[in-house]
Amino acid sequence: MTHAELVFVPIPAMGHLISMVEMAKLLVDRDPRLSVTVLIMKFPFDADVDSYTNSLATSVAAARIRFVHLPGENIGTEISSGRFLTDFIESNKPHVKRAVAKLVDSASSTQQLAGFVLDMVCTTMIDLADEFGVPSYVFFTSSAAFLGMMLHLQLLQDEHHVNITEFKDSASELDFPSFTNPLPAKVLPSVVLTKESIGPFMEQAKRMRATKGIIINTFDELEPQAVRSLAGLGAPAVYPVGPILSLNGETKKKDIDGHRGDDIMEWLDKQPPSSVVFLCFGSMGCFGEDQVKQMACALERSGHRFLWSLRRLPPSKGQLEIPSDYADPAEVLPEGFLHRTASVGKVIGWAPQAAVLAHRAIGGFVSHCGWNSTLESLWFGVVVATWPLRGEQQFNAFELVVELGLATEIKMDYRRDFRMESGILTADEIEGGIRKLMEEAGSERWKKGKEVSEKSRKALTKGSSSYLSLGRLIDDILNNMPLI
Ligand SMILES: *[C@@H]1O[C@H](CO)[C@@H](O)[C@H](O)[C@H]1NC(C)=O
Ligand SMILES: *[C@@H]1O[C@H](CO)[C@@H](O)[C@H](O)[C@H]1NC(C)=O
Repeated sequence: MTHAELVFVPIPAMGHLISMVEMAKLLVDRDPRLSVTVLIMKFPFDADVDSYTNSLATSVAAARIRFVHLPGENIGTEISSGRFLTDFIESNKPHVKRAVAKLVDSASSTQQLAGFVLDMVCTTMIDLADEFGVPSYVFFTSSAAFLGMMLHLQLLQDEHHVNITEFKDSASELDFPSFTNPLPAKVLPSVVLTKESIGPFMEQAKRMRATKGIIINTFDELEPQAVRSLAGLGAPAVYPVGPILSLNGETKKKDIDGHRGDDIMEWLDKQPPSSVVFLCFGSMGCFGEDQVKQMACALERSGHRFLWSLRRLPPSKGQLEIPSDYADPAEVLPEGFLHRTASVGKVIGWAPQAAVLAHRAIGGFVSHCGWNSTLESLWFGVVVATWPLRGEQQFNAFELVVELGLATEIKMDYRRDFRMESGILTADEIEGGIRKLMEEAGSERWKKGKEVSEKSRKALTKGSSSYLSLGRLIDDILNNMPLI
């Protein structure tokens, strides 16, 4: 039997890494002819992923997945610069090439390099796949609609000569084939509204068109219109294979970090069903002190039970803000807040998000709408109130609230990233949003959420949409293998 070897190249950021490893597991579990080598690049700073990547080799038991750590490189570009990621990826190309050449040399006679599966931001590595004479696929960790947006904007720019950055602060709306609703410019990601960063981003969109296929972490039933629109936007073959979640990967991270979240689960066990609002803003989510005070005020006034993952702003401002936990959150909270809310609320640091969302006590989720968290909330059928911060989160919030009717809104166009920052949300606005969210039970939106939850679980089962899509991908990989 011939073995097809795939090379995976994720960027070493938690979300990307975890879901690409999960994707690798799906592939090798499905077909005994496939094996995967994951190349792990190293950021020139401690990105909190080392402990995770170092544990991978032992924690991922699959026999046909291997991890190769590439040497680090000091690239001397400021993290906050728009070029950081581009330079980082460029500097890793020689390492990737060397690692793959070694792989090819040491392969047995029945083993064969079958293709590259690249992180969505590593599309310039298509050149390397070309050099080895194998096809490249992209693994897209965001929604089908967001892929549609990238392709659409790139066409607007390159074919219709629209200057996309001029949409900054614009109230205009765009016709957008992936949605039935027009797309407000205010939910476009700041990467395309900024002169310094739009170039490389549009280049990625262009290069994705030239791949053999795009694997998307979504499922047909969630975004039917967006998935269908991709062919018309010039996408290659697309494979919606999701939702790929790492529901037990969470446990492993917990063990590594030493906190297990047991106290959180014990607290939730004591709360009535659907009574608790959960606030959590992802691995990069944190706010300034003024905003934290408004949130605290809103929570207290709403009277609802709450579980609040409150994380500390890192001392320096950069593109990759990695928050940490407060030694004592009281230092940023209003005087006496913890004491007054002790019987109804719990302020925590890092949260075992999936386990919390799975708990019956949770009645609503205030979320930054990262795609990964969005898929998790849909999986567990928990209604979301949107509070996006960065990246494509404003776009995701719009898709959830307006296009899919699956979430309520605290704000859709809040922004807090190193390129742009919006003003703070007042306690009144937040309180209103929380009240609305916690009154959702039984509503149309809530029912729809439960249906999507069932569909998301079904998508992966034998004979269903994502299962079939993965099968088509594997056929494509095996049929395109260069002959030995
Ligand atoms: C999704 O995000 C959560 C919270 O940030 C994280 O713990 C989890 O590992 C992520 N999962 C994936 C598949 O990236
Ligand atoms: C696009 O518009 C911005 C703002 O008006 C301007 O600074 C920039 O130079 C323009 N870019 C191009 C490529 O014309």
